[in-house]
Amino acid sequence: MEKLRGGIIGIGGFGRMTLAGMIEAPSVLVTAIADYDYELAQAKAQELGAKAYRTYEDLIEKAEIDALFLALPHHLYPPLVRLAAERGLHVYKEKPLARNFQEGLELVELLERKNLRFMIGTQRRWTPGFRTMKEWMPEVGQVFLARGQYVFCWGPDFRWRGSLEQSGGGALLDMGYHTVDMINWLVGLPDEVYAAASNIARPNTPYPYETDDTAVTLMRWKNGAMGYLLTCWVSSPAEERALIHGSEGTLVADWEGVTLYTPQGEVRRQHKLDRESATGAGIYAAMVEHFAQCVFSGKEPECSGRENLRNMALIEAAYRSAKLHLPQSPAQILSQQGA
Ligand SMILES: NC(=O)c1ccc[n+]([C@@H]2O[C@H](COP(=O)([O-])OP(=O)(O)OC[C@H]3O[C@@H](n4cnc5c(N)ncnc54)[C@H](O)[C@@H]3O)[C@@H](O)[C@H]2O)c1
Repeated sequence: MEKLRGGIIGIGGFGRMTLAGMIEAPSVLVTAIADYDYELAQAKAQELGAKAYRTYEDLIEKAEIDALFLALPHHLYPPLVRLAAERGLHVYKEKPLARNFQEGLELVELLERKNLRFMIGTQRRWTPGFRTMKEWMPEVGQVFLARGQYVFCWGPDFRWRGSLEQSGGGALLDMGYHTVDMINWLVGLPDEVYAAASNIARPNTPYPYETDDTAVTLMRWKNGAMGYLLTCWVSSPAEERALIHGSEGTLVADWEGVTLYTPQGEVRRQHKLDRESATGAGIYAAMVEHFAQCVFSGKEPECSGRENLRNMALIEAAYRSAKLHLPQSPAQILSQQGA
């Protein structure tokens, strides 16, 4: 069986999920590992029969790999993706695509010019709950209202996430990326957004705290449909919900499952979820396997870098709007840059 030889950089944080997916994916072989914590990289490499590298650049330049998997603080991605493109490696990276639209566009075009596959880890697309929601979308009829809400309490130290230069954005760009991706996937890119963002929830913090901890984004589509995104990472109760209201019914997805209601509130269909099916390694294995198959076939992956430019356009428009106190058009950002 053909195997994609993968090298992973960053296994100390969320990358452990990507690594779990790589281990479980039938067509992927982990051959190289690097982490800031070299001992951790060595221990994992030994366990998997892979090679550990001291520096990220060394892994990219010397490892016997076909593809690079990245899960790092956001500012570390661009130079590594550029190096990977130079070496002709396909790239799978954790969300977000980039710190801003322009950076995302540069990376997408770079890999496309070299005919390399580029996929972004946006795992909501692969969870049974949101996949069911997508499947049931035709049953809501004409969408007139879309709501995305994601709240939890991060802390106490944001580390690189509090630095605008290193992260690119806060609650909206980072955790909110999933909610943005759901809106774009289920309803399409809004024509106009108006946003407010703030970071006043933790006064007098001693560590860098420049990014938004709370953002509310109003959205409007050409046909009159509207919606909002609410992202906040300094409060509770934790919730992640997407609600799509249409002429024929309402779809609600959260950590418990998906429910389709009639406009009057009767349950028409329901898909209950267990936590493992929504968060387990199987989801990451499916994503990584899909990526490997796209590398073999030359097909564009679902959640490709190019597709993720829509998420970056919505987020960029929202941040610009919050700064200027004026509505902005994600579609215009997307088209102006030729994407
Ligand atoms: N899909 C999701 O649900 C999800 C959840 C959390 C994070 N993420 C994404 O995963 C990526 C990594 O986030 P994280 O929370 O794992 O980050 P993290 O701060 O835990 O760091 C991850 C790894 O980056 C490396 N690293 C950290 N600081 C470094 C430095 N200064 N120099 C060199 N290497 C360094 C280390 O190897 C570390 O193990 C980000 O893109 C983030 O947005 C995605």
